[in-house]
Amino acid sequence: MNRRSFSKTLVAAPFILRGQQAPLRARIKIDTERVIGDIDPKIYGNFAEHLGRCIEGGIFDENSSLSDANGYRRDVLDAAKKLGVSLLRWPGGNFSSNYRWKDGIGPRDKRPPRLEMAWGTVESNRFGTHEFLNYCEMLGAEPYICANLGTGTWEEAQQWVEYVNSSKDTAMTRLRKENGRADPWKVTYWGLGNEMDGPWQMGHRSAEDYGKFALEAAKLMKWTDPNVKLIAAGSSNYGGGSDWIGWNRTVLDFLKTHADYLSLHMYVGNPNNDFGEFLTSSLTLGERIKTAEGVINAALSGQPRGRKIYIAWDEWNVWYRARGASQGGGRRMLEEKYNLEDALVVATFLNTFVNNAHILKIANMAQLVNVIAPIFTDEKRMFLQTIYYPLALFANNTKGKALELLVKGPSYPNRRFGDAPCLDASAAIDNETLVINVVNRHQDQPVEAGIELEDKQFAPAVEVSEVNAPDIKAENSFDSTTVKTVKRTIEAGKNSLRYSFPPHSFTMLKTKLT
Ligand code: AHR
Repeated sequence: MNRRSFSKTLVAAPFILRGQQAPLRARIKIDTERVIGDIDPKIYGNFAEHLGRCIEGGIFDENSSLSDANGYRRDVLDAAKKLGVSLLRWPGGNFSSNYRWKDGIGPRDKRPPRLEMAWGTVESNRFGTHEFLNYCEMLGAEPYICANLGTGTWEEAQQWVEYVNSSKDTAMTRLRKENGRADPWKVTYWGLGNEMDGPWQMGHRSAEDYGKFALEAAKLMKWTDPNVKLIAAGSSNYGGGSDWIGWNRTVLDFLKTHADYLSLHMYVGNPNNDFGEFLTSSLTLGERIKTAEGVINAALSGQPRGRKIYIAWDEWNVWYRARGASQGGGRRMLEEKYNLEDALVVATFLNTFVNNAHILKIANMAQLVNVIAPIFTDEKRMFLQTIYYPLALFANNTKGKALELLVKGPSYPNRRFGDAPCLDASAAIDNETLVINVVNRHQDQPVEAGIELEDKQFAPAVEVSEVNAPDIKAENSFDSTTVKTVKRTIEAGKNSLRYSFPPHSFTMLKTKLT
């Protein structure tokens, strides 16, 4: 759904009637045969970078009594499991562009500390390939490794695939066995570098230079293991006159025969403290997905019909407060504290991913713990940030086929888009279980919706899960959980359901169909 699918004829703005506001009304029509595409579980991915306290002090803390014998924080692992993390990207981000993977294998105490130039620290290398891949196995997540195409070489990228995936008897696989892992991990998802269009990136190149370089790496990686799926670094540099569309087009011209995904990133914020404007961030996301889809289609014209390239939105989140220098350096970097409005933006991003399920097959919230993250720790405790709740609801429930909805309802004026729909929605059907996700972007008013089912009947009981709080700025902390999921059950009619979506809320409705 995008803003153009909304009718402005119903209620364009709150009416004032004898001192009272008339209720805002909407209609949502569902036809279970109107399928957008299969929802890939990998859209509920996450990201762990060697940055601040994401890995050391988050996922992994060898000195903590909360950790298991291998150094993994048990409380964090448990929270990550409940979050339904399907895919975990590692080791960066910007970090990946100066990561020497061979430093991170072998006995931990013998691994070399190295200057780390992406974030200006020293990398201990105590968490490396084995620690990451074993963590993914414990978590039940697919690993996604981002190769170093910044300072790294083709050979390093190729040998990493060989070390991790090969069953042949070679120097690389003997080394893996010496380091305690007999069987290959068979990692499918590999990134061809990170944000290579950005001047901030080590090894930054022009689109032509990156395209040529990445193609050679891709050839070697696929010749080492034909089953790997490769993710090309697209441009996420949208501002300042940069030509993100041109970058992607050029890169795909080089990589159209080898890349399986195009990686895109987007972080959003509310620097103007304008709730209505902030909540439209997902409309920009939707426009960018459509643009990227067009670029991919253009690059693929002339390719065999079966050749596909999907979008991997492999970094996304709200991130605008805890930027670099404001953190004062040191280990506490990018430690964003999230509130309710951030959680609502996260829910609208997830709606947008589901509404583009045909082309968007990977998404990774950045990042998992402490660093712009849903899970937050100190040495002794952990809490779940506001953004944890919508992500967990989506990942655990919104599965199967994404449905195209007809949503007619009110809109509200805002600076970025002129007007924007109050309701942002998505739906999915999986084995006769229907899930409807709705964010009410209106800050003050509920929206009363009639939900009509065209071709099936609702079971009487509908499970309602709501993420909300009286204050849009409400945050969670070690001591209190103000923003969380609250559940209840309501009754539906046979093919209609009335529901009043509270102001500034995210609601998931889940029911069986008959
Ligand atoms: O997630 C934080 C950083 O944001 C990543 O390292 C980089 O890829 C992006 O710019």
